[in-house]
Amino acid sequence: MLAVDIGTTSIKAIEFAPGKQALRIMNYGILESSGYLARANQALQTSSLKIFEADIVELLKTLVRQMGAGTKSARASLAPFSVFTTVLDFPQMSQKEIQQAIVYQAKQYVPLPLNEVWLDWRDVGGYQDEKGFTHRKIMLISVPQEQIQKYQRIFRAAGLALKSMELESLSLARLFAGDPTPSVVIDIGSRSTNIVFMENGQITFSGQSDFAGSSLTQALATSLGVNPLRAEELKKERGIIGTGPNYELSTIMLPFLDAIINEVKKVDFTYHEQVSIARKAERVILAGGGANLLGIEKYFEREFGMPVAKAAPFLKFEYAPDIQPFVSELNPLMSVALGLGLGSKTNS
Ligand SMILES: Nc1ncnc2c1ncn2[C@@H]1O[C@H](COP(=O)(O)OP(=O)(O)OP(=O)(O)O)[C@@H](O)[C@H]1O
Ligand SMILES: [Mg+2]
Repeated sequence: MLAVDIGTTSIKAIEFAPGKQALRIMNYGILESSGYLARANQALQTSSLKIFEADIVELLKTLVRQMGAGTKSARASLAPFSVFTTVLDFPQMSQKEIQQAIVYQAKQYVPLPLNEVWLDWRDVGGYQDEKGFTHRKIMLISVPQEQIQKYQRIFRAAGLALKSMELESLSLARLFAGDPTPSVVIDIGSRSTNIVFMENGQITFSGQSDFAGSSLTQALATSLGVNPLRAEELKKERGIIGTGPNYELSTIMLPFLDAIINEVKKVDFTYHEQVSIARKAERVILAGGGANLLGIEKYFEREFGMPVAKAAPFLKFEYAPDIQPFVSELNPLMSVALGLGLGSKTNS
């Protein structure tokens, strides 16, 4: 099975096969479209739902060919900006009754006509009110049919069979199955940051911010008067640990990291406002390419006042020893694709 994560500026794919004790990573690849750095509007996907299909098809074909992937069966993740989620409150009822009630409620909440979306839902916890009545918190997920059809077209054109799709946030949360610590995963991509609250590998709330890796690159380019390719290099080389001449780089980037932190705090506030029973997050996990920014863990730890760690999903898989030197850097980058792969066992 091939897990494919189509980000706004890169495509990541991992081929899995059953291993001895866990899934085995057979092959992986990342193809970055660096064109977006030279031309600000050249992202692969934009939040306006416009996907540059032909470009993605070509990149995906190239990636799969170069990886030498042996399978055509694929599973894809869906970016948060292409999906609408909300948490609803229901009295205690059977799964079947919830299903019926959701379709009814969805009309009020989903921003598109229901015949144009694919609907799903997750039970994200229950609680008792002061009168002793039990309630269920249900997360409603809706994906525009148009988005699903686009993905089907892209995979077909790339010669792959798209077997299933899943929200990025569900893939990320799955990596923490069996870990009861309430946590927030901050996936800092290129164009967007995905904010996922979770417990026991189950997503409990999620949000999104448009401040992300490319905000840092753009800030450097503008402030230092260098081109975006150079700014990207400087960001990756120096990060925010700078002292002396590198100190300036940190001061340029920090306001954008603060913007991400503020967005996480806002989502946290809304979460607790909507789900009064929610437990406070006790830990921050960083994912996405932005998690590789040098110094980010320390900075976030200070700002959030709780432990911060980079995601380490490779631990859950078997892989050839020659990948080992790259694992630390790949861990956050490949988190979504790895979580997606783990889900193929249950095929949710
Ligand atoms: N070592 C590094 N230091 C700082 N930033 C880095 C490093 N490595 C990668 N990045 C940044 O990570 C971002 C790409 O991350 P990722 O591949 O997770 O994004 P994406 O999935 O394509 O985008 P999105 O999730 O927004 O759709 C880029 O902004 C890149 O500059
Ligand atoms: Mg991403």
